[in-house]
Amino acid sequence: MSKINFTLNGKTVQVDVDGQMPLLWVLRDHLDMTGTKYGCGIGMCGACTVHLNGSATRSCLLPVSAVAGAEIKTIEGLDPTGNHPLQKAWIEHDVPQCGYCQSGQLMSAAALLQENPKPSEEDIEAAMYGNICRCGTYNRIKSAIKTAAESSK
Ligand code: FES
Ligand code: FES
Repeated sequence: MSKINFTLNGKTVQVDVDGQMPLLWVLRDHLDMTGTKYGCGIGMCGACTVHLNGSATRSCLLPVSAVAGAEIKTIEGLDPTGNHPLQKAWIEHDVPQCGYCQSGQLMSAAALLQENPKPSEEDIEAAMYGNICRCGTYNRIKSAIKTAAESSK
């Protein structure tokens, strides 16, 4: 076990866990941040996506020791008031179906718009490629990202 400090949604947290434990389990089981989901556990579905120092990262593959001193943002910290342009666009386009994949989708989309506020169709497809949705909400996700990008101009 080792004590590891990092910033989670703007606040410093400390956990005392095996450093090899994936960040996803630390978030869900030790910090009660259950918005980030477990899908495949092997980096293939995107359900566990969080931001690591602003970049979209799969938390199921990331040992918590690797985030010591880093800034982590989860869906709970995207905008707690629900006013992030993507959150509003998600509602406008009625994107979610079962909802399971959606926090990962939103975190990937948020990282995209942070890096590239005016993404092309191809940019959106490339950024969202690794986020799987078994309900097939892909077209609504794409439309919502375009709406959010428009509204942030
Ligand atoms: S649970 Fe991490 S990529 Fe699927
Ligand atoms: S909304 Fe059901 S898996 Fe994406």
